[in-house]
This record gives sequence, C-alpha cells and structure tokens, in this order.
Amino acid sequence: MRNDTIAQQPRSIEAANPAVIQLVQITDSHIFAEPCEHLLGLNTRRSFERVSESALNNHNTVDLVLATGDLSQDESAESYIYLARCYDHFCIPTFWLPGNHDRVETLQQHFHGKWIHAEKQVLIGDWQIVLLDSTIPGEVDGSISSSQLKFLNTALRAYPDRHALVCLHHQALDSGSEWLDLKGLKDSDQLRQQLAQHDNVKGVLWGHVHQESRRSIGGVEWMSSPSSCVQFKPGSREFSTSAESPGYRHLNLYPDGRIKTAVHRVE
Ligand SMILES: [Fe+2]
Repeated sequence: MRNDTIAQQPRSIEAANPAVIQLVQITDSHIFAEPCEHLLGLNTRRSFERVSESALNNHNTVDLVLATGDLSQDESAESYIYLARCYDHFCIPTFWLPGNHDRVETLQQHFHGKWIHAEKQVLIGDWQIVLLDSTIPGEVDGSISSSQLKFLNTALRAYPDRHALVCLHHQALDSGSEWLDLKGLKDSDQLRQQLAQHDNVKGVLWGHVHQESRRSIGGVEWMSSPSSCVQFKPGSREFSTSAESPGYRHLNLYPDGRIKTAVHRVE
C-alpha cells in the first residue's frame, strides 16, 4: 500500500448483530511459495489452515477478519495466491495490512478475492477500524510515516462518534522481549501521543511479536497476538521460541466502546 497508493475511501461493512461486532485477527502466517516448507520446524501452511479453521468453527458469527502482517515469509506471489484462495474461501470480509516480511507491491498484486478488501478504514456498527502500514521496505523494524499519521488523524477526526480500533504490524508498546523490542516500532512514542489526542480510540492491535499480551491503559486496550505459526518466548533477552501452540485472537466490540477479547490456540 505504500502510503500514498492505499485505498483511502472507507468501506462500510454490515454487522450481523451491531450489538456485538465479532472480529478475528490472524497474524504472522509466514507462508512460503513451496507448500512443504517449514519455519523453525513448523509447516506454516498446515498451521495456518488449523488456526483459521478453528477460528471459523469456534464462533457462529464472524463479521470480519483482520490479517495483520507477515502474511508471507518469502514475499512470493505463490504465497499470496495461496492465502487469497484460503481467505476468500472463508466468505467473510477480510482486511489486511503488511508486515516486515511482506513485499507490499506483490501483496497488492496477488492477494485478491471477492471477500478481500484493500481499504484501510472500515466502518462497522458504532465502530471504525483503521489499518496502518508500519513497514519500512527492506527493514525488520517499523515506523509510522507522516502520511500514515495524517491518514490516522484524518480517519479518527472524520468519525468522532465512532469508537476506533487501530491496527498495525509492529508493537505499539514494548513487548518486554529485548531482542524483539530492538526490532519494534521506532516512533511508537509519537504514535501513542497521536492516539492520546483522540478519545474515541478504544483499542490498538498488532502482530510481529508472536506472543499474546493485553494491557488496559487510560481506557484503551493494547493487544498483541500469537502467530498462526511459530511462537516467541515472552520476556526473552535473545531470540527464543516458545512451545506454545499457534493461535488467533477473537474480539467482540460493543456499542458502548467496550472490547471483550480472548486468544484461542490450537494443538
Ligand atoms: Fe512475524
């Protein structure tokens, strides 16, 4: 999406029940072109299929799916074509943002489907969801560019009466894993300052850290989520994986601005 070329128009999605909007976040799927390829001993396609199946089977209604970056591991067209087929098969509106392992141009070109939408601002019930691009081409760590900050502020100001969930790939708060936080969001202070100026922001959601966390600060829920493949060990100083299972995050958004959320894992 590289900032200026993103779809700037909001997309409206009708919730099955506006009294409880239900979202599923699937993040960091790290899919390869080659179906049998493994990441740190795990077949990422098989793991993604288990996680996504579980996400759809566990909940009667899912209003929309958020794919929050690192969709691909190898930036291949084949990885995005495979994912587009999978996500489109869910028949649930799906929105995406890129991670550091994605190549945005290839993603845009091949991650298409009837149910896959490129818009980065979603209106649903009493909420809006804003999807930011925190990637820096060729870098692992992230940054929120001035054009993305402007997009965020414009989106939040345009709908002051809607509660907002802001999504990005890199961590908006440090994870506590030193090696990951060295590869986090360079200007997270600036992002948090911007978010603090809008009292309609109720949640901030990210991937990248391959581990779950949730903190409630000043009426805002700050959430990270497990990867649909390999997990990183919380609190580690150096690169370290965890034996925890792959998973996804489910969120309920209520008309009064509350967020109820839980992480679900598969065996
Ligand atoms: Fe990742």
